[in-house]
Amino acid sequence: SSSKILITGGTVVNAHQQVIADVYIEEGVVAAVKSNIKVDDDVIVLDATGKFVMPGGIDPHTHLGMDVLNTTTVDDFFTGQAAALAGGTTMHIDFVIPVNGSLSAGLKAYQKKAEDSCMDYGFHMVITKWNEDVSREMEIMVKENGINSFKFFMAYKGALMINDELLLEGFKKCKSLGALAMIHAENGDAVFEGQKRMIELGITGPEGHDLSRPAVLEAEATGRGIRLASFSNTPLYVVHVMSRDAMEEIAKARRSGQRVIGEPIVSGLVLNNSGLWDPDFTTAAKFVMSPPIRAAGHDKALQAALSAGVLQLVGTDHCSLNSTQKAFGINDFRKIPNGVNGIEERMHLVWDAMVESGQMSPSDYVRVTSTECARIFNIYPKKGAILAGSDADIIILNPNSSFKITAKSHHTNSDTNVYEGFTGKGKVEVTIAGGRIVWANGELKVVPGSGKYIRMPPFGYLFDGLDRADANYLSSLRAPVKRFKS
Ligand code: URP
Ligand code: ZN
Ligand code: ZN
Ligand code: ZN
Repeated sequence: SSSKILITGGTVVNAHQQVIADVYIEEGVVAAVKSNIKVDDDVIVLDATGKFVMPGGIDPHTHLGMDVLNTTTVDDFFTGQAAALAGGTTMHIDFVIPVNGSLSAGLKAYQKKAEDSCMDYGFHMVITKWNEDVSREMEIMVKENGINSFKFFMAYKGALMINDELLLEGFKKCKSLGALAMIHAENGDAVFEGQKRMIELGITGPEGHDLSRPAVLEAEATGRGIRLASFSNTPLYVVHVMSRDAMEEIAKARRSGQRVIGEPIVSGLVLNNSGLWDPDFTTAAKFVMSPPIRAAGHDKALQAALSAGVLQLVGTDHCSLNSTQKAFGINDFRKIPNGVNGIEERMHLVWDAMVESGQMSPSDYVRVTSTECARIFNIYPKKGAILAGSDADIIILNPNSSFKITAKSHHTNSDTNVYEGFTGKGKVEVTIAGGRIVWANGELKVVPGSGKYIRMPPFGYLFDGLDRADANYLSSLRAPVKRFKS
């Protein structure tokens, strides 16, 4: 069970405020935040003097235990979550994949995968085809199952991709339910062409993956998705924004007042594509994901956009695979299962890239790693804040300590790490999840089954006033003409 814990003397960082205070935790929730809290001697006391006490990270984008190209990611819910906790993330939102197009069958399968969870989690639902059943099931997902977001794929032709007509149907349905539409933005038809072109040129290695789906295709789909969302007056969330070009589409839409959310992921913020040209196949293949990791320069542009508020929150797209699985594509990059790790590394890498570099304050960091995600998916301030009544999901970060990333010591199940050798300032020394100390002194103590399913109710802040916008639109239409036949 959870303990009574007092964290003393740290700088408590919320997105709205930083203050030196004590934090008292009881029954898995924050009971008080103020100075000089006095407690009994059966309370565990953690001294956080000189350190930052922050809401645990919320990763809005993970794939644990997902089937991909005849294989399954090496991290299931339990191992992925354990790794996350060791890196300061205390909740994640995973993508449910339907079974033969059935949302409820997909949900059932994911509920089973998540049974042994050691960390709180929520679900997005992926829409892979469109018909009356899917439309009806979306309603059930929102009204009965605590799901308030749906992901549509504009890529993966012949598998998950849906066309613009169906995308518009999906957007309309999302709006009517108060659920957020998400897009994987790449032009799937063009990617298919690009892949054929590479194979014809004899480029079969991992670099062919990058060359076959350039940033222009991500920008095209991002712009198209945004314009279709504008046509539907539907809020839109663009997942894994990987290029400056796609980011500019989001910036332009936001400047015009459209409700668009952009999610960069850690790989896009701190990596570049040079690894894909590594002569060693195993090294190159670990960088294969979609949309691809871009050339140097895109990373810095995405960091700047995050700092400026053009992009709002950071995910990982954690989808970890072993070198043996990546080797399925040794003779053809199209057969390399897509995905990189990040669930354990996100909090460290974002702190180092954004705060340590001087591009962001600690409060901004909390906003992009936790608070904004909780707000968007309508679970704030239960999550995403250290306030009396919030869940006791808290980390203690020492800004003067450093981290080093290597597959030799990471907690995920993969034999490789796309961030191998990365070092930086700022170390998560303690993680408290649901009032339990699960990570301290380099030791992980997780409890299978202790993680709770977090229901996410519809109509978050992105929907406030949307009905007014719709009414304004209708009243702005030029009156139809009453015609007669001469
Ligand atoms: O390469 C990736 N991103 N794999 C995970 C699936 C997705 O498209 O998010
Ligand atoms: Zn007591
Ligand atoms: Zn995707
Ligand atoms: Zn993903």
